[in-house]
Amino acid sequence: MDFSSKKIRKDFIKFFEDKEHKFVRSAPVMPIDDPTLLFTNAGMNQFKDIFLGKTIPDHKRAVNSQKCIRVSGKHNDLEEVGVDHYHHTFFEMLGNWSFGDYYKKDAIIWSWELFTDIWKLDKNRLWVTVYKDDDEAEELWKENTDIDPSRVLKFGDKDNFWEMGEVGPCGPCSEIHYFIGDINDQDSKGVNKDADYRELWNLVFMQYNRKSDGSLEELEFKHVDTGLGLERIVATLNKIDDHYQTDLFIKIIDEVINISGKKYAYKDGVPHRVIADHLRMISFSLSDGIMPSNEGQGYVVRRVLRRAARFGRVLGIENEFIYKLVEKLIEVLGEAYPELIDKKIHIQKVIKSEEESFGRTLDKGLKLFEEICTKNDSLIKGEDVFKLYDTYGFPVDLTELLAHEKNMKVEKNKFKELMQNQKDLGRQHNRFKAEDSELSWNALNKCDSTSLFEGYKKEELNAKIILFRNIDSEKSEIILDKTPFYAESGGQVGDVGRLENSNFSFIVENTYKVGQNICHYGYVEKGDIADQKNNKVKAKINAENRNKIKLNHTATHLLHKSLKNILGEHVQQAGSLVEANRLRFDLTHYQKISKEEIEKIELSVNTIIRNNVKLDITLKDFDIAKKEGAEALFGEKYDDEVRVVDVVGFSKELCGGTHVKRTGDIGAFKIIQESSLASGIRRIEAITGESAFNYLNKNDKIINELKLNLQCKSNELVEKITFLQKAVKKSHDIQQELNILKAESKIENLFSKKNNIDGIQVIFDKLSIELNPQLLADIVRNKLSSKGIALISVEAEKSQLLCVVTKDICNAINAGEIIKKIASSFGLGGGGAKHFAITTFNNKKILNDSMKIGKDIIIQKCKDYDN
Ligand code: SER
Repeated sequence: MDFSSKKIRKDFIKFFEDKEHKFVRSAPVMPIDDPTLLFTNAGMNQFKDIFLGKTIPDHKRAVNSQKCIRVSGKHNDLEEVGVDHYHHTFFEMLGNWSFGDYYKKDAIIWSWELFTDIWKLDKNRLWVTVYKDDDEAEELWKENTDIDPSRVLKFGDKDNFWEMGEVGPCGPCSEIHYFIGDINDQDSKGVNKDADYRELWNLVFMQYNRKSDGSLEELEFKHVDTGLGLERIVATLNKIDDHYQTDLFIKIIDEVINISGKKYAYKDGVPHRVIADHLRMISFSLSDGIMPSNEGQGYVVRRVLRRAARFGRVLGIENEFIYKLVEKLIEVLGEAYPELIDKKIHIQKVIKSEEESFGRTLDKGLKLFEEICTKNDSLIKGEDVFKLYDTYGFPVDLTELLAHEKNMKVEKNKFKELMQNQKDLGRQHNRFKAEDSELSWNALNKCDSTSLFEGYKKEELNAKIILFRNIDSEKSEIILDKTPFYAESGGQVGDVGRLENSNFSFIVENTYKVGQNICHYGYVEKGDIADQKNNKVKAKINAENRNKIKLNHTATHLLHKSLKNILGEHVQQAGSLVEANRLRFDLTHYQKISKEEIEKIELSVNTIIRNNVKLDITLKDFDIAKKEGAEALFGEKYDDEVRVVDVVGFSKELCGGTHVKRTGDIGAFKIIQESSLASGIRRIEAITGESAFNYLNKNDKIINELKLNLQCKSNELVEKITFLQKAVKKSHDIQQELNILKAESKIENLFSKKNNIDGIQVIFDKLSIELNPQLLADIVRNKLSSKGIALISVEAEKSQLLCVVTKDICNAINAGEIIKKIASSFGLGGGGAKHFAITTFNNKKILNDSMKIGKDIIIQKCKDYDN
């Protein structure tokens, strides 16, 4: 029988499709709208809101193959990866779900059927576990399958109660394990203990929600959530213990062998395995829009990439190489996950540039690590771990790994403390936090209507208020049965406008989604909201505002395509904001976009605008749209039916936003800013239509004024201004020279009144010219040459007191301390360097008095000075 990974993935999906399950595409590895999770760690993540009763599913059963990453939080397999041959940071999870439909019995029967009837796994090697209190599941296994009853075992919370994270849906589970050793060596005691008993399939009976206080809340409906690791089942069905020898990995491993010239064997295979595993985690993260960075998911990707780079060194690979493996990964998984093909160039470029930047410090860091090890016996000090991190970019887990290989430990607490200090200095915002905030729209769970969006065609319509809630004494939220208001999504801001009837009016300041409902946010202008439940209102958007948004949204598509055409296919949309006044577009690109490139981009967009191209907007099946070349965005979760916005002959994107009918409606497009947002990400801001016209007009006005003032034509402006700048600089230089001459003659006078106190030259005097104090101090100090002090009051625009001390004696007679002392006797602050200090007073009287005090201090200091 063919047990290729492709076939097994297909078999699983087909098996459940035949049982009326709907196939749902994998969600991105970066969870959407779930601050409790850093990465998608299980197939059920995308269905979390369904389990919690916040969203009503449009199908009761689902099946999929989900991209999962387990490198953080509750489920973290990073440490095991590579050491053994069956843990992974990235893996595919096959799963079937029941949303309040079938429960334990069918889930159990079907898993057994697929395993033993279809795939013919040996029943004499299978073991089943159930939760210690779940007698029902135990009975169901024994009564409905032909499993040997002695192979059904009970376990406690640790093994048979599954939780998604610190908070969220959870419940008892039943697992199917497979014994890979000698068939006669099995014993129930080995299950959940010995690595030869491989846990294959987990059937979770979702029943509770774990709250942040640790308590369990019963869910309204009971659900089934199963997860079967594809890598494990592929290995098991092919009777291969080592996952890295299956068709999911072998091409990548072979390429690592090819590049390094080092053979693969279980014992010496840790580097090969780590590299092959990490390549998958990194590539899928990048293809879903995560960029390596210093926080959140981006930092995890960077850490994993650096680990892989270091294992390359273990195999003797000196140059960048991980990016070269992407081709092989695509050969294996590109068909199942076409986003890898779409984003190939981007993935390769980002990996290569990360490898390059880490490569520059990696060898030096490894050398330092060796030195640290020779100095210490068993512990790497926190300071050293921090230095490796801060100077050489070694994530702490990389240092830990290196230490582990030498049987050493890492002083992690001290490292954490040092990290904390650094963070306190430059505090940064981090999105990741555990929370289970409750929406108090409980009534929504009970109402099975979802508000209908009719705003593609209509600007106003009559609708019924189905729900409202007051947020505070001023603001409220309203949900209608249907609405022309666009709810913020895909970068496009929510509409504004008004809801009204004869005795009520409500100003809508924003519109957004709550579950599948569209929520109008704003304030009551007239009447009482409490009287309005189920009443009809006229819902009317601010059409002028919406029109401006439309121009910017279509222009965003033109910009996106132009960027790809001009800068290259590596460009990916990394974020966008479409407002009435402007559009903002973030893109992956590795250097500043030059002035010439900006001009080309503007020209490209404006040409399409002038060509007045028609937009075709249609609903299509996702796969067909993709085949026709429609651009899907990073990390977006698309439905089966998608909206394709086609600027005919130019660009095609999947997009739910509002757009113009023809590109000519945009009028004009102008980029007003280009900047760096993060490493490898640029940000462009642009304007369209009347805003672009006004912007150009405003600039034109400035030019006209300049022309008038400078008495020249516009094409002479630059030359004229350059000429004037040069002239100003020249006159400034001349003035400076004059000042120096003037100063020198005044300073000559000072020196004629020089005293000598105990072998030290001392000047106390007044000046009344405006001079750069630093310049004055330098001249005085040079003239004094050695063993000299000057206390000079300058009475010009400001009243300032300067103290200058020659460098040979400034440790003993410190100018900064002298000025500080003088200023403090007037209750003021002041100070400076040892050889030059200055303070400013706000009146001349204090300046005169300060001179007297200063004199006394200095005379005393000279007397105390020990020659
Ligand atoms: N959520 C469960 C798991 O991840 C079953 O899918 O194991």
